[in-house]
Amino acid sequence: MSRKKPIVIGVAGGTGSGKTTVTRKIYRSFPDKSIAVIQQDAYYKAQDDKPFEERLLTNYDHPLAFDTDLLIAHIHELLQFHPIKKPVYDYTVHTRSDKIVPVEPKDVIILEGILILEDRRLRDLMDIKVFVDTDSDLRIIRRLLRDTEERGRSVESVINQYLTVVRPMHLQFVEPTKRYADIIIPEGGKNTVAIDLMATKIRAVLDGADASPFD
Ligand code: C5P
Repeated sequence: MSRKKPIVIGVAGGTGSGKTTVTRKIYRSFPDKSIAVIQQDAYYKAQDDKPFEERLLTNYDHPLAFDTDLLIAHIHELLQFHPIKKPVYDYTVHTRSDKIVPVEPKDVIILEGILILEDRRLRDLMDIKVFVDTDSDLRIIRRLLRDTEERGRSVESVINQYLTVVRPMHLQFVEPTKRYADIIIPEGGKNTVAIDLMATKIRAVLDGADASPFD
């Protein structure tokens, strides 16, 4: 069934919390591909005008690191069932790549990212807000493994970035957004009960079972 307006779900949580795994598992429980996934990371500001050394110094955990205006414009397009051209971010060079990914409009849009609940304009576009809440020791271990294996970083640089930027920004900007969540999922991707509940809720909304008799 096609809806008048897609439903928008925000999935926030600190780095390494498992929000990508939660999103992937929800996505995969809809084999008909009725979900569009938008990662906030794709909307890091392009920094081609800055030399590489300068890009290394950018604070990527601050709300101002993101091109939130473009993200909001793209969500508005998807809400009108228009396709978008999503940017692609390259972590190894700390800027956007030349590629773009076309995203077709869907009945469900999942927005996933560390600061997706931080901007009120984004929150106002969401029907369901989720915060994936995982202990910081697990998050730093996951981040260390991922950034050294997939993002071309050294152990020393990951630890240094975590202590000087990621941790303080998490406490200042990410953690406080938990208060906006409708649902807090402990332990991310391993929480199959929470993921099943989310999928059931989405299915109910898609099937119209959630429609109020008073609308
Ligand atoms: O996937 P995850 O939620 O961990 O991605 C967000 C993290 O990516 C941020 O904590 C930020 O420090 C990191 N990042 C980075 N280098 C960039 C852009 C983002 O380390 N160039």
